Amino acid sequence: MSNLHKALDEKLVRVGILGATGTVGQRFITLLSNHPWFIIHALGASPRSTGKPYAKATNWKQTTPIPSNVREIIVQECKPEHFKDCAIVFSGLDADVAGDIEGAFRAADLAVFSNAKNYRRDPSVPLIVPLVNDFHLSMIPQQQAQHQPPLQKGFILTNANCSTTGLVVPLRALEKSFGPIEACFVTTMQAISGAGYPGVSSLDIIDNIVPYIGGEEEKMEWETLKILGGISEEDGQKAFDMHSRYPLRVSASCNRVPVIDGHTMTVSVRFSRRPPPSPQQVREALVAYTPAARSMGCPSTPVHAIFVHEEPDRPQPRLDRYYQDGAGVSVGRVRQCPVLDIKFVVLANNVSIGAATSSIINAELAVLKGVVKLPIN
Ligand SMILES: NC(=O)c1ccc[n+]([C@@H]2O[C@H](COP(=O)([O-])OP(=O)(O)OC[C@H]3O[C@@H](n4cnc5c(N)ncnc54)[C@H](OP(=O)(O)O)[C@@H]3O)[C@@H](O)[C@H]2O)c1
Repeated sequence: MSNLHKALDEKLVRVGILGATGTVGQRFITLLSNHPWFIIHALGASPRSTGKPYAKATNWKQTTPIPSNVREIIVQECKPEHFKDCAIVFSGLDADVAGDIEGAFRAADLAVFSNAKNYRRDPSVPLIVPLVNDFHLSMIPQQQAQHQPPLQKGFILTNANCSTTGLVVPLRALEKSFGPIEACFVTTMQAISGAGYPGVSSLDIIDNIVPYIGGEEEKMEWETLKILGGISEEDGQKAFDMHSRYPLRVSASCNRVPVIDGHTMTVSVRFSRRPPPSPQQVREALVAYTPAARSMGCPSTPVHAIFVHEEPDRPQPRLDRYYQDGAGVSVGRVRQCPVLDIKFVVLANNVSIGAATSSIINAELAVLKGVVKLPIN
């Protein structure tokens, strides 16, 4: 165990949560209430909630009770002065307000881990799925230097859209073993909770499928390239290369289905290499995949980044979405594709690894890599 690990086990790091009352915010509360390194210090939400004890402000929808150490915390306005003692600020803010609020927190030299879409396309902001591209953390010093005035501790780091997250974990495992993927078709069956609370009207979703989720297909097609791509460097300036050395075409079709939690997707891929790997080789590569977050000892990382089902009818959202507390990705039905090379099914818990769990592992990685500056670093 490193000295930093020891220090983290002895002294808890104060964290804040913006959007603490929402769907993602509640998952943050549940996951952080037992975290070995982090302690919830401040909560923020909209003017509808501010000034109230958390238990009165939120419409709690989790299956476990509100943690007792959080119930009485007074919800604050999302202003940096209320969070100045937090080394880490997690954001589950609505995208309509996340841009301005997260920008103000960064300008106040606070480290923000965001779930919103607003900064994902920013060329200096890493878009990190912690089971995939932790090395993109190396962009943070450039982001801090570019800010006027330059920042010492503050930055914004985003995680991906919930459906992109489920896709890129197996794609990264396959690229690691077999080299570049050049084409991917993905069709999603996305849970209602992905739209936040109260989300899609029951009259629209019960007994139905809605074959459109605004902006989702573009997000999956674009974010996948930023996440699976590398970082190029010219004249001392880093840039995300968008997988441009090996062009990758992604075609996504996104559907909302009457499932509460858990995004399921069917995926077909074509590899550059010929002949392509067999379904058995693909299964073995997925099982063997170990992300750096696991070897580095990030406490929220799942034991199996990818769990491969052998049963022909799995994964299923109702049965598999809480496996490993929703932190891993389940894959099944790995088989040959008669059009591309290989096809399979993926299930990822959209509220856990698709949102709050990813942010928390990103923060753990940032602490271990010294990107989040702590008194104990
Ligand atoms: N749900 C998912 O599966 C998922 C997955 C990945 C990413 N995301 C992203 O994560 C973010 C949160 O999603 P969600 O599903 O948790 O949404 P949600 O349930 O609608 O929660 C939104 C949160 O934002 C707060 N908020 C709204 N207006 C505000 C304002 N003017 N000032 C300060 N706070 C304000 C709300 O506070 P009040 O309760 O006080 O209104 C609430 O805490 C979104 O950007 C979403 O796209 C969601």
